[in-house]
Amino acid sequence: MNLDENMIEIKNLKVHYKEGGKETVAIDEIDLNIKKGEICAVIGPSGCGKSTLVKVLSEIIKDYQGNVLMDGKKVDPKENRIGLIPQNYGLVKWKTVEENIFLSTKIKDGKKHIDGVFYERLLNKLHIKGLEKRYPNHLSGGQKQRVSIARAFLLKPNLLLMDESFSALDPMTREAVQKLFLEVWKEYKVTTILVTHDIREAIYLGEKIVVFSSSPGRVINTIDNPLFSKSSFDIHQYEKLNKTLRKMLKGDQCYER
Ligand SMILES: Nc1ncnc2c1ncn2[C@@H]1O[C@H](COP(=O)(O)OP(=O)(O)OP(=O)(O)O)[C@@H](O)[C@H]1O
Ligand SMILES: [Mg+2]
Repeated sequence: MNLDENMIEIKNLKVHYKEGGKETVAIDEIDLNIKKGEICAVIGPSGCGKSTLVKVLSEIIKDYQGNVLMDGKKVDPKENRIGLIPQNYGLVKWKTVEENIFLSTKIKDGKKHIDGVFYERLLNKLHIKGLEKRYPNHLSGGQKQRVSIARAFLLKPNLLLMDESFSALDPMTREAVQKLFLEVWKEYKVTTILVTHDIREAIYLGEKIVVFSSSPGRVINTIDNPLFSKSSFDIHQYEKLNKTLRKMLKGDQCYER
């Protein structure tokens, strides 16, 4: 694997929604390149098109202008393995934890292709061993989110999409789950796009931080983040980066937790 290669290449992407004769431009001509094995955090205010970008990459939205390439070919969830970790966990409530974790891999490859050893490792790594037979309604928010992460990793995706994946968690649980996510991610280094409106999360989890303008979304800036994945760092360096990002985002609808 050539780590300098761009795995995702987005050129002149423009997306608009049509609703009752009214047109909303959600994304306005963005270019974005993401390298193999990189976590790219996309940060921007509410309504700037972050979820729209995730929907384009997962082909929920097919009607767009511009090019969205994965390994040089048009992105296609049937051809590619795309994992999604949504904000609301996306668990099926009448299926057990185990059935939920198997779900994406089962749909993609069939049940007999589930890697049982990897599954056990994920249960242990994400501290959800023992919960396999429970139903989602009997789990805490943090446990549900870890189940959702396990499901995405079990699929062995070549692209992982995370849409505000940690935002529904309370601050302490959020930090713990972010740390576990990073530990699992470091082992498999899956190319990841993480959208967030949380500056602290972008600094902790984004190797590269892409800043979107308010609606319609355009790329204001791209930053190589020296503080990526660091749990201890020079507080002045953190404050400086935080301030820079806040300034870019004009402090309007973005917030720091
Ligand atoms: N189905 C839709 N029909 C019409 N307009 C839509 C639709 N979905 C989103 N939009 C509009 O497109 C723009 C971008 O929405 P999007 O959901 O991508 O924003 P976002 O950055 O994810 O916001 P948030 O941080 O609040 O989740 C917004 O102006 C939104 O109102
Ligand atoms: Mg959104």
